[in-house]
Amino acid sequence: MSNMYLRQTQMTQKRLWMAQQFFTAVFIISTVLFFIHNIGPQESLSPQPPIHSGLAPQYVSVSYWGRLGNHMFEYATMIGFAERHNKTPISIQGTDLWSAFKCPILRGSSKSLGMYQIYTEKLPAAYSKSLEEYFPFDSFLKGYFQSFRYFDFIKEKLVNNHFKFHDNIQETAEKYINNVVREKNMSNPKVVGIHVRRGDFVRQKRKGYTVAPVPYYYRAMHYFRTKYRNVLFIICSNDVIWSRDNLDNSEDVHYSENIDGNLDLALLANSHHVVITAGSFSWWAGYLSKGEVIYFKGFPQDNTVIGNMTEKTDYYPPYWIGM
Ligand SMILES: *[C@@H]1O[C@H](CO)[C@@H](O)[C@H](O)[C@H]1NC(C)=O
Ligand SMILES: *[C@@H]1O[C@H](CO)[C@@H](O)[C@H](O)[C@H]1NC(C)=O
Repeated sequence: MSNMYLRQTQMTQKRLWMAQQFFTAVFIISTVLFFIHNIGPQESLSPQPPIHSGLAPQYVSVSYWGRLGNHMFEYATMIGFAERHNKTPISIQGTDLWSAFKCPILRGSSKSLGMYQIYTEKLPAAYSKSLEEYFPFDSFLKGYFQSFRYFDFIKEKLVNNHFKFHDNIQETAEKYINNVVREKNMSNPKVVGIHVRRGDFVRQKRKGYTVAPVPYYYRAMHYFRTKYRNVLFIICSNDVIWSRDNLDNSEDVHYSENIDGNLDLALLANSHHVVITAGSFSWWAGYLSKGEVIYFKGFPQDNTVIGNMTEKTDYYPPYWIGM
């Protein structure tokens, strides 16, 4: 080994040492700055979150993935988590939930959270017990959280308070239903909302997104027709043409032609009873309604990608009726 080479190695080691010292210093300074920043006043939309000190309150927030029905699961799980661990829910991302519902919680930005613990689900439609674990930090939930078990213990609060439709949507839905009842010359019928989910699901059958077959609808309608003498069915679908062509066209059936998803959800939720088919939008139409819910047992299809990610006993509440 030549001297020259030794000297070079020593110099390299010295430089490395200096670089290490430098990066350590930068790390310490930025960590300190980070914490100073995070205990300062928060940037937020209304209502104003309380100033976040090292003590109470601890926040919980959630990622919004997917579409409206998914966001409802995510939001509801955040509220359930907040109740369980005595944390304050805060939305740090935009969501279309606010276009339909009151959702009376704090809104902030990613800066609203201090040091936080991330909770990740194991499967998108199965209950994960790890959310029962308490950590004394803010919390951030990542997943689809499609199980009633995350929030069923606060169902009343969710339905009557958080997922309360804006007044104009609620009034429009009530008026719509009353008009249909009047047009059909019925008096005080039991209104049964039926959600027919097709569209994109028809093309994704192999993944497990089964669409309910025609006999399912007839079984569910038969159930209500025999139980009550005076029934009005209101059918909402993202494929009204298929529905009209394939389903019952009796006097007691009305097809909703409206294309506003929020209003369809409100029509279903305001029905006395609901028949659901597939997907999270359908699921929530059932959950928001106050009466009986009939679901299609074949969704999702077992032994498929989606079927393998779903624990049906975690997905469908035991008080719903599978057909
Ligand atoms: C409802 O009653 C009105 C007036 O009696 C009648 O003109 C109309 O055809 C009836 N509609 C249905 C659907 O029976
Ligand atoms: C679903 O799970 C079963 C049992 O574990 C397995 O045999 C099957 O290959 C899986 N199917 C898919 C599509 O992942």
